[in-house]
Amino acid sequence: MGILLVSVLHLVTPLAMMHWHNVYQHLYYLPIVVAGLSYGWRGGVAAAILAGLSNAPHNFLSIQEQPSYAIDQILDVPLFWAAGILTGVLAERGRKQRADLEHTTERLTEVYQELQDNFERMKRAERLFALGQLSAGLAHEVRNPLASIAGAAGILQRNLRLERKDAECLEIIGKECQRLNSLLAHFLDFARPRTPEYQMTDLPTVIESVMELAAHAIGSKPIALRKELSPHLTPLECDPELLRQVLLNLMINAIQAMPEGGEVLVSAGPRNDRLLIQVRDEGCGIGAADRDRIFDPFFTTKENGTGLGLSVTHQIVEQHGGILTAETNAGKGMTFSVSLPIRHERLHEA
Ligand SMILES: Nc1ncnc2c1ncn2[C@@H]1O[C@H](COP(=O)(O)OP(=O)(O)O)[C@@H](O)[C@H]1O
Ligand SMILES: [Mg+2]
Repeated sequence: MGILLVSVLHLVTPLAMMHWHNVYQHLYYLPIVVAGLSYGWRGGVAAAILAGLSNAPHNFLSIQEQPSYAIDQILDVPLFWAAGILTGVLAERGRKQRADLEHTTERLTEVYQELQDNFERMKRAERLFALGQLSAGLAHEVRNPLASIAGAAGILQRNLRLERKDAECLEIIGKECQRLNSLLAHFLDFARPRTPEYQMTDLPTVIESVMELAAHAIGSKPIALRKELSPHLTPLECDPELLRQVLLNLMINAIQAMPEGGEVLVSAGPRNDRLLIQVRDEGCGIGAADRDRIFDPFFTTKENGTGLGLSVTHQIVEQHGGILTAETNAGKGMTFSVSLPIRHERLHEA
């Protein structure tokens, strides 16, 4: 556009106004430089060619009257080319450097994120370790007297003919002892994380048995349990008992997150050399503020929750060399994903 404008100016300005023609001639450089900057050396060359061609009629007309001026102009053409190529090459080099820089920045951001994640994981492991030490001792101390209390309450309940109110009190004592006992059992799982006993495990069998267990937690809520297993599942090397505990914790959380009902979907299949198991619910989901804390020991939003389920689950998955993640569904609820190596030894030898 700029080139054509300059050529038109050349044509309409009388030859006598030579100083203007000189200015126009130099003006050609502007669009050539712009083309070089925007489209690289090819753009610069194209603009230089266009400038040479569109100036040809003016040259042709002026060669009669002002031969030396016309020759000057023709000699300018190689300079157009040089300007176009030079700006283009420099612009391309600048662009490449910018792209490299952007790439490096991206990579740095990724590495930083990885570092941050590792740091978080380390902090959690440290917390778990301290907590494990503490709770091991405490749980033992509390468990024995608790068993005595429950036992004594049972004897009283059986031997005394009590008023209804007193009988209810004893029943409460019994029930609460039971609840505390199961809490302590959780603590002990936590304190002495069992070393996994690896064996070849048939995943569909594990999932089936977990679903049967989880069905008891549904009660009267309209909740459906569904599974979707890939036909390409191969035996998995893991500790089946621990894996069962992982899946049960995830399923019970999913069920508890859906007081109004819905569907819990358990799916499993190979994914890039690993096995991916997902538990998806249609429940209340987890707010952004809680997202970072759900794997922390004792974090719970439930009245009777222990806040230990997910941290034990996390610990078991890590013991297996796996990764546990939680994602908010596009629609409703959460999806918890467990990614496990299919073979244990190979991972450790590597
Ligand atoms: N599927 C889920 N949907 C919504 N919230 C969940 C889900 N799973 C876990 N949570 C949240 O994470 C918290 C911690 O879970 P967990 O460690 O299993 O402890 P607990 O179940 O005893 O509360 C829960 O209290 C709940 O707020
Ligand atoms: Mg739980």
